[in-house]
Amino acid sequence: MTDLRIAVVPGDGIGVEVIAEATKCLTAVADSAGRAVRLTPFDWGAERYLKTGVALPPGSLEMLRDGFDAILLGAMGDPRVPDNRHAAEILLGLRFKLDLYVNYRPVRLLHERLCPLKGARREDLDFVVFRENTEGPYVMMGGHFKKDTPDEVATEIDLNTRKGVERIIRHAFAFAQRTARREVVMADKSNVLIHAHELWQRVFKTVAAEYPGIAARHLYVDNLALQLVRDPRQFDVIVTSNMFGDIVTDLAAGLQGGLGMAASGNIHPGGLSLFEPVHGSSPPLAGKNVANPMGAILTAALMLEHLGWPNEANRIESAVASAVEDRQTTVDIGGSLGTREAGEAIGARLRA
Ligand code: IPM
Ligand code: MN
Repeated sequence: MTDLRIAVVPGDGIGVEVIAEATKCLTAVADSAGRAVRLTPFDWGAERYLKTGVALPPGSLEMLRDGFDAILLGAMGDPRVPDNRHAAEILLGLRFKLDLYVNYRPVRLLHERLCPLKGARREDLDFVVFRENTEGPYVMMGGHFKKDTPDEVATEIDLNTRKGVERIIRHAFAFAQRTARREVVMADKSNVLIHAHELWQRVFKTVAAEYPGIAARHLYVDNLALQLVRDPRQFDVIVTSNMFGDIVTDLAAGLQGGLGMAASGNIHPGGLSLFEPVHGSSPPLAGKNVANPMGAILTAALMLEHLGWPNEANRIESAVASAVEDRQTTVDIGGSLGTREAGEAIGARLRA
């Protein structure tokens, strides 16, 4: 069986700490299966940017495409870097340049204690958000006019292409069909964004018609936010735009136990993809051994699943669930362990 070759980019802040635990778990699960995961670290992030002025070194894309099966990234962001421009160049740069148009964010509850909703059971939370990942306001097209004057104007373009909208909606339906899900909900704001999101409406109807076996429902994104808190049981597969997906998946993370529990994949189907926990670099928590490594560890599992190692992925998820059950967790979800100790609690289960 072939080894996996993973480019590991811990990044900034707590990214470094949580990725250290995620890589230990990867090695543990591979060892116990008699397989190998080859991990190659890259020091891209604020420190290197501040020293050298380089965020993503020239040739990185080719090097990644030629040499690796996937990228595992921690988090990017450092208050010392103006506008966090290194983060935009690295994370958004990789999303755009590798054309990682699917942001896959599964939402599951590993223990009912973690959900802030009254009476929620584990089975009540089991849906997937597909966030468009290469368009919307994230393209950074816009500008200032008469900057720093009382007449200043600032614009940001919400870019939506037929190709971009169609491929993410198609991906959501194909996923629903492949995984026997019942319904796809598309969330937009077409009552106000009457051009850009009218396109989403039209494309959604067209693609839905090709999948008669899967229910298709539209919700305005504000209503989606309400419904997610009121009754998340109704959701199966959600597809939405880049910025709405960003917001909705933080809300969803809250339902799972917080940002420390949420995993994600930035995927180009059939191509090199990048996996990262949903949380950021959290400068106030950095270097204190307090960050929850579970989001990063579950992200490593998502990556293995994507790369065709479903048994190992399941073993990691079960090990995390078991550690949660036994309260061997960090403080954010009710335990008393540090980052390393919480990671080790999972690593020990994987080696057992
Ligand atoms: C995320 C993050 C990023 C985003 C930031 C760090 C640019 O919030 O992955 O959800 O907005 O996409
Ligand atoms: Mn976000």
